[in-house]
Amino acid sequence: MTRKLFVTTALPYANGNFHIGHIMEYIQADIWVRFQRMQGAEVHFVGADDAHGAPIMIAAEKAGKTPQEFVASIAAGRKQYLDGFHISFDNWHSTDSPENTELAQGIYRALRRNGLISSRNIEQFFDPVKEMFLPDRYIKGECPKCAAKDQYGDSCEVCGAVYTPTDLKNPYSTLTGATPVMKTSEHYFFQLSSQRCIDFLQQWTQDGKLQPEVANKIKEWFTTDEAGAGGLSDWDISRDAPYFGIEIPDAPGKYFYVWLDAPVGYLASLKNYFDKGGPKARYNEARSFDEFIADPHVEQYHFIGKDITYFHTLFWPAMLQFSGRKVPNNVFVHGFITVSGEKMSKSRGTGIDPLKYLSLGMNAEWLRYYIAAKLNAKVEDVDFNPEDFVARVNADLVGKYVNIASRAAGFVSKRFGGELTAALSADGEQLLGGLRAGADEVQRLYEEREFGKALREIMLLADRVNEYVDQNKPWELAKQQGMDTRLHDVCSVCIEAFRLLTIYLKPVLPALAANVEAFLKVGPLTFTDAQRPLGAHAIGAYQHLLQRVDPKQLDALFEAPAAADTAPATASLPGGEEIAPTIGIEDFAKVDLRIAKIINCEYVEGSDKLLRLTLDAGEGQTRNVFSGIKSAYKPEDLIGKLTVMVANLAPRKMKFGLSEGMVLAASHTDEQAHPGVFVLEPWPGAEPGMRVR
Ligand code: 2FM
Ligand code: ZN
Repeated sequence: MTRKLFVTTALPYANGNFHIGHIMEYIQADIWVRFQRMQGAEVHFVGADDAHGAPIMIAAEKAGKTPQEFVASIAAGRKQYLDGFHISFDNWHSTDSPENTELAQGIYRALRRNGLISSRNIEQFFDPVKEMFLPDRYIKGECPKCAAKDQYGDSCEVCGAVYTPTDLKNPYSTLTGATPVMKTSEHYFFQLSSQRCIDFLQQWTQDGKLQPEVANKIKEWFTTDEAGAGGLSDWDISRDAPYFGIEIPDAPGKYFYVWLDAPVGYLASLKNYFDKGGPKARYNEARSFDEFIADPHVEQYHFIGKDITYFHTLFWPAMLQFSGRKVPNNVFVHGFITVSGEKMSKSRGTGIDPLKYLSLGMNAEWLRYYIAAKLNAKVEDVDFNPEDFVARVNADLVGKYVNIASRAAGFVSKRFGGELTAALSADGEQLLGGLRAGADEVQRLYEEREFGKALREIMLLADRVNEYVDQNKPWELAKQQGMDTRLHDVCSVCIEAFRLLTIYLKPVLPALAANVEAFLKVGPLTFTDAQRPLGAHAIGAYQHLLQRVDPKQLDALFEAPAAADTAPATASLPGGEEIAPTIGIEDFAKVDLRIAKIINCEYVEGSDKLLRLTLDAGEGQTRNVFSGIKSAYKPEDLIGKLTVMVANLAPRKMKFGLSEGMVLAASHTDEQAHPGVFVLEPWPGAEPGMRVR
């Protein structure tokens, strides 16, 4: 029976562009999906923007847009990434959509009917100026333990103390600076702690389908200590207006917390796809969304990152189960991507900018191959290492695989009119038999998401083919009299072997495989084609299939934007350098200068020039900025001072981490003769976030 699959990736918040972490997840899911399609499965692979929530509402306001306009502007940028990395979503939608409103409200109503929704009053910080309840991340104040200023509501960055926002001394709203007041409001809860939910979730999470490390982590979440603390708590699913979200039925002024309607967005995107007739056109799927999603034979899988396991393995299955819907078959959890061992920031990503990767002319399938080579079915982090990247792509992909075709194809066209022979000798048949026998293992590994192992297996097969080429040396056969038949035989074996390897690599390298199909003059390859030899068949002219990576491209990928060249020092010039060419006011306006407060400053281990500054420019979150002022200031001289920062400089990846801005400082070009670096400080009255113009 044809497998019917509904597959999703986590829905990205619509307040920023994709970073490499998103792309890694999409590549992982896309490889699995393409593999399933090649097996003949009916696959519906969908994504959507996660549009709701306070951060998006606030970001939109700052950008002077409605939340809808703001989300639309982010959504408009998605296609270039998805197309660029050959991610084959069947549909992309939004959680801010009629489908999602209807589905989320329907699920809520069903849960309520089922007696699993309760309500009670809670006390929370409220910003009296903005007239809104404040999520914890928008509250700062003095650490209750060490009295450090400007600390977030959960923990102190200076002394490490952990506490709740109400413990802060002199708390203030980072949105308005106002002192928040405690205010009571009625909240709605999903009763996750009910015995029904616990029984169901124990069973759903511990029946062996989840990755073992995921199941174990969840076990910890279930556990209560002797005092009865821990275990599952009821989940607060409501937020008060103003909120960008979906209204809660029969509860004026109350909205679903973004995480309630986010996973429902999976269903909404699928529904949108069905309503547009996608599955009918692609698979002649005659049923409606409602019929399809209720079918017990339809398998539902979600690819997610490890940080959102709780939502996907507890809240989401319970929401579906107790609203009378079918639960997911599995949730596939992956780790994070690090770059040369360095963690990335969730909002800003890593030093690898996916669009920069593409704009440098780097091949998307190099990255797909490299990421696949590093992925397994565990929740392990994946490290992007530039040297390793070059080695894997050049040595394995080009050296072992692409070269097979380039070494044989020329002779087939020049000497045999582009015709392959079906008359293969025993050694060739034996080699091909071995390659065909590898298909089962490769398929098993793809199915289990052991992509690294699958590629290692395929490269071992490629090694065998290369040994065969080295033993038979077609370039020498070509020079020998009377060896035409053998040359034809050997080259035909190589091309058939190349075709088999292409089938095995196709889920990872779809565009390359399409070029190979054109070169071989065959239709779209699937795994069943592995058992059907090409035989006597006319192929096309070989054209180079894949470039090697030039290590310079990786240097360019990680390179910070070029710093302006400094003019040679001349005594007669002001400050040692000429005044720069004239610009118009519109050029100056492009530089966004802001007052920033230096809330922390420290030495950078291993650097004799830099200080690491933590700056607050009133954005509700701080920035990390490296500045070459170590020779002039001690960290304690700077903490608490105001300064001027370039706020819209592209973040630069430096050896010690990401620098998210630049602090203004004066210096003479000839520092030897005129020593000193002088950080700018505004006159009294200026406040963090004010623009300098
Ligand atoms: O963590 C995130 O980026 C969320 N936007 C993921 C949501 S996944 C699903 F629930 F929509
Ligand atoms: Zn402290």
